[in-house]
Formats: sequence, C-alpha cells, structure tokens
Amino acid sequence: MGPPVPLVGDGLSVPCVDGVERPYLNLDAAASTNALPSVARSVHEFLPWYSSVHRGAGYKSRQATAAYEQARVAALGFAGRPVDGGDLAIICRNTTEAINHLAYRLRLRPDDVIVTTVVEHHANLLPWARLCERRFVECGPDGVFELGAVVDALDAGPAPRLLAITGASNVSGWLPPIDQVIAAAHERGIEVFVDGAQLAAHAPLPGSADYTAWSGHKMYAPFGSGILVGPRSTFSDGDPFLAGGGAVDLVDLDEVAWTDPPEREEAGSPNVLGAVALHSAIAELERIGWPAIAAHDRMLADRLRRGLSAIDGVRLLGPAPDVQTLPLATFTVEGISHALVAARLSAEYGIGVRHGCFCAHPYLMRLLDLTPTEIADYRGAVLAGDRRNVPGAVRASCGINTTVEDVDRLLVAVAAIASKEHAPVAYTQDPATGDYWPEGEVRGWASADRAVGASCARG
Ligand code: ALA
Repeated sequence: MGPPVPLVGDGLSVPCVDGVERPYLNLDAAASTNALPSVARSVHEFLPWYSSVHRGAGYKSRQATAAYEQARVAALGFAGRPVDGGDLAIICRNTTEAINHLAYRLRLRPDDVIVTTVVEHHANLLPWARLCERRFVECGPDGVFELGAVVDALDAGPAPRLLAITGASNVSGWLPPIDQVIAAAHERGIEVFVDGAQLAAHAPLPGSADYTAWSGHKMYAPFGSGILVGPRSTFSDGDPFLAGGGAVDLVDLDEVAWTDPPEREEAGSPNVLGAVALHSAIAELERIGWPAIAAHDRMLADRLRRGLSAIDGVRLLGPAPDVQTLPLATFTVEGISHALVAARLSAEYGIGVRHGCFCAHPYLMRLLDLTPTEIADYRGAVLAGDRRNVPGAVRASCGINTTVEDVDRLLVAVAAIASKEHAPVAYTQDPATGDYWPEGEVRGWASADRAVGASCARG
C-alpha cells in the first residue's frame, strides 16, 4: 500500500482551550516523525532478544550482534553504496553527532577551509566552525542558489578540504541540485559531505557523495540512531571521535591500539534497538518505493504551499509554490508573532507545528530579510534573557502519514488566524522563552501545566 501510511500515535486526541478534544494533527515531521507500525513491531519482536552487541558469548548476544550488523549493511545500501565497496556505515545517535564525528575525523587544521552554504541548519555549520575556516555559498531572497554560486565558492582560494551541503533545507524544503553540485566538486577533486537529515525520508540519498549522514528520528524510526557513511580509509588511522571499550584491540595504562573501523568508531555499548528500528524503517520505505513517496510528497507540497500563499496576510518563505520542494512550508502571518500563531494552532486547533528559527538562524535572517540593525536589536535582547521579539516563522511539515484533509485542516486554521479572528482566550507571552500560553484553567492548558508545556523555540 502506498502513502498515506498511518503512524503509531495517529488519531490520538488532545485537549484544546475550548474544553473540546480534537484528533492531534502532527505537522512537524521535519523535526521528528512517529514510528511506522512495522518499526514498532520490529522493535517489540526484537526486545526479548535484546543483549550486548560485540561483547557477549551467549546465544542472544550473537543474535543481537547479527541484527546490529544487518542494520549496518542496510544503511549502506540505503545510502546508495555497495556493501563490499570501500565505504562503511558508522551507527551513531543522529545527524548532529555524525557531523561532529566526521569533522573530528577529518583532522582539520585551523587554516583548512570547508565550503558550506547559508542554507544549512546548525548541525552543518557549528561542527566545522570550531575546527576550521568556512567559506559560504550565499542564497538569494528566495532562499536558493544556483550551481554557479557553488562553483565560484569551490574555485575561490584557498582550495577547500570539503564541500558540506544539505540535500534538502529543513526551513524552505528547497532541494539544491545535489547531483550537479557533487559532480562539480568532484571535477575539482573536492570531496562532498551531504547532510541527508531532511532528504532521507523523502528521496534516495545521493550515492555519489563521499560522506553522508542522516537520523532515524526523521524517518519513522525514533529510537535514537543515526548513520554516518564515508570511505573506510578516513577512519582507518588515528584516534576515534569517542574513546572507550569496543574501539580497541589492546589497552595498557599508557598505551592503546585502536581496532579497525567501524568498531573503532563506535566505543561503548551500541544502540541495537535503534539500529533494528532504522533497519526496519529502511525496509519499509524501500517496500513502499520512492516513486510512491515522491508522488505523495508532490501532491502535499503543492496543496500546502499554494494554499498558504493564497491566504491574505500569509507570506511563504523560500522558493515560490511552483518550485518543487519537500512537503513543508515555512510562513509568517502579517501582524501576528510566529510564536502566537503556533500557540493558537496548538491550543485552539490541536495542530502541532514548529516555530522560531528552526536551528538555522543565518538562513532565517536572510529569508526574513532583516536589516543589520534589526538583527543586532534582537540579539541584544536574547543575550539579556528577553526572547519576546525573536524573529522567526511558522513551519508546517508533512510526512508519509499526512493526508489532503490534514493539509486542508491547517489551511482553514491559518486562514482564521490570519483573518484576525478573535482568539477564544487571551494569551500571555513568557519573556524567557518567547512562547505564548492561553490563559484559563482548562484541562491540559492550566497554569500548572506550563512548566511541562513550553514549546521551546530555541535552536
Ligand atoms: N533540524 C530539525 C528541524 O528542522 C531539528 O526541526
């Protein structure tokens, strides 16, 4: 069966400020997805067999080790690599950890240069920032850049060690021309890292990238695993990112002999449940097939982005609605703070979205077209602990379970909010987080619930 494919948790009801329970509509797939039922089943079936990986003589340890290693093989295939080629898959926590891992293992010197882009989320900016120099590919007001801009950045001196670029933007959903970008870098002898965090659930990862990484929690396997793929040779020498048991052949008090990768890169007891979940998600996405997923995504993206653009007072950030993107939309509502729009969607309509800067501050500043003075003002306020006026937007993002009716439900809610329809209750803003909270003592939204209810928009 093709999408929409229901996920675990779909159909749960949540309380709203009018005292009515509504089916929860999760439009925050770009941040985290619920589990596919097949993933939940695989984890449940594996649980009795849970045991130590690469550390036990018992039968169950052998089974657990086999399941873990099968997940590694599946991950390599998912990244478009032959199993017996020169690449390996390192199982880690998520994309952020994978990029920190890679940045450490590339043995960067402070004067090395990485070419990256202003479109990246923080995970593909900060790990490089603390180790080396960065040269940026700029974007236009619509949040995109041409292949030529990447080529210019690659050709500028000094020659870069690596191009680190996203496969798809978590903010605008834009899909850079990744195959052409990789080919241009390779023509110049420059290796490429593709951040696959957003792409992984929507399209094949580019097999021609030298390195890639992605997370289970954005592809229906929310059990704490992620993958870094790259050439074995990068990980064959030198000390690993994490030091500890399982990564060694020999240890004395003043000596260590590291073992071969991938074990060299995976010190500590690995997350076998996360690996089993990831393997199961890979199998299910491959069973459904990319053509069916792409058709579903195109239909949702079109309806969502055109629908939002047609609402008076709503501004879609990033490329125009006729540009093919991931099925997500980031938007502002004229005269209403992004934090208030998101709070109202949640408290009045039972719709979960993300708001703020989406862990991509530099990109948001560009998409919102903020002046240097506006940026300086809000930064000063944040550093003083006041987040009331943090600029930002609202993001609605769809997954394999999202239906046309779900998108229409969002459009109706946003249209009502944008029309300046009166909220049924007053909202107060917390200066420390910038979040709004509905006043009143309705179940689920009472003042006592605030401590656990903050939808922190930091990033
Ligand atoms: N990068 C994730 C997001 O876009 C966390 O929400």
